[in-house]
Amino acid sequence: MSPDLADITSHDTFVEGIPHDTFRYLRAENPVSWWDEEDGRGFWSVVRYADVKTISHEHETFSSAQGIRLEDMEPDELEARRTLMEMDPPDHTNLRRLVSRLFTRGKIAAYEKTIRDISVDIIDRAFAMGEFDFVTEVARELPMRMLGRLMGLPDSDGDWLVRMGDQMIANTDPEFTEHVVDQTDTDEFRLLPFRSPAARELFDYAEGLMAERRANPGEDLVSKMLEPTKAGDPLPDHEFKNFFALMVAAGNDTTRYSIAHSMKALISRPDILALLHSQPELFESATEELLRWSTTTMHFRRTATRDTELGGSRIKAGDKLVMWYISANYDEDEFIDPYELNIVRNPNEHVTFGAGGPHFCLGAWLGRLEVRVALEEIVPRLAAIEQTGPLERLRSNFINGIKHLPVKVELR
Ligand code: HEM
Repeated sequence: MSPDLADITSHDTFVEGIPHDTFRYLRAENPVSWWDEEDGRGFWSVVRYADVKTISHEHETFSSAQGIRLEDMEPDELEARRTLMEMDPPDHTNLRRLVSRLFTRGKIAAYEKTIRDISVDIIDRAFAMGEFDFVTEVARELPMRMLGRLMGLPDSDGDWLVRMGDQMIANTDPEFTEHVVDQTDTDEFRLLPFRSPAARELFDYAEGLMAERRANPGEDLVSKMLEPTKAGDPLPDHEFKNFFALMVAAGNDTTRYSIAHSMKALISRPDILALLHSQPELFESATEELLRWSTTTMHFRRTATRDTELGGSRIKAGDKLVMWYISANYDEDEFIDPYELNIVRNPNEHVTFGAGGPHFCLGAWLGRLEVRVALEEIVPRLAAIEQTGPLERLRSNFINGIKHLPVKVELR
């Protein structure tokens, strides 16, 4: 392998930006390449769009049940921390069915006004300041407040839930947690989601919720999660708590960072801002392109259940494979001029929400709607926007996050 390749196993690499040159090289020369890990047993990096699709669809060969992040887990950890994501059909199908009805395109579309009202509230308050951190004041606020509404939680709990979500999913960044998983000893928390003590606090919160909703069920997401599964029984308490922690983690910072990347892209491209001013009908395709551009979840992992072959490499049963969505979304064989931000790109079959198959993002319609509505409310208010300080990136090879984006806005 070329010696100039960036170390994609290291979280530090991604603090500087996405190593696009490395992914481009790998797509061309070594599409399924082996990487040793300092703290793990090594993995195959899968970087081409077509191969990421194959893995996502062939769940019998490429299982989720051994874990979906790079971390190797002992059997007791895996069992204690198992959620929807670490299951294969048919168990996965039964559980997902509990909540999937609430996340269809039609059901989510009914929230558009709520999302718009929350967005306007957040944006007007932030823009009145003139100069502010776009991530903390705007992008961070919307997703959790929206998820709180879906779950029937009070708005006043939103900030706390965001902090808990950050501590879990950003467990590799010292700004968000004292327990940085690859730098401190987190053995004490090994049976908790993301090896994070925040999960313990979330579990306590979830226990209160369980008692309350079992006594007074409603139409909200939490009540649905407590209903019997197709197999007949409700989820055991422990599985409910894991599911709740998953929702708080999954529904929170992915959307935040998509909004943050979108803003950063518009700061760099005032011509696109002007185009959206004059052609608001482009917001929908612009949203898809900005989602491709940002690819906030950069990878997920599967484990081979049998010996197989992929992209010219021989995979053995038990090998870990990492699907790099961040590479697939820039694959020249799928996207014309992938490094060009083209808000009228069509087709645009990006894999930002996964590449199809059973685990395709449950919240895809919600994520999309939140990003589009946020943009529809931000852009018309802006005469100009400039970045006033350095952008700070999350220390993670898993989530493509912008932690801080200081801006100055000029209103129309
Ligand atoms: C822009 C925002 C979002 C992005 C980029 C994103 C990305 C993803 C990706 C890549 C997957 C894995 C797909 C696969 O393995 O095939 C996923 C799964 C999931 N997402 Fe999202 N997501 C977003 C928003 C949300 C929201 C708002 C929610 C919840 C309200 C959510 C809940 C979930 C859940 C529960 C899963 C697991 C589904 C399963 O295993 O069956 N996501 N998401």
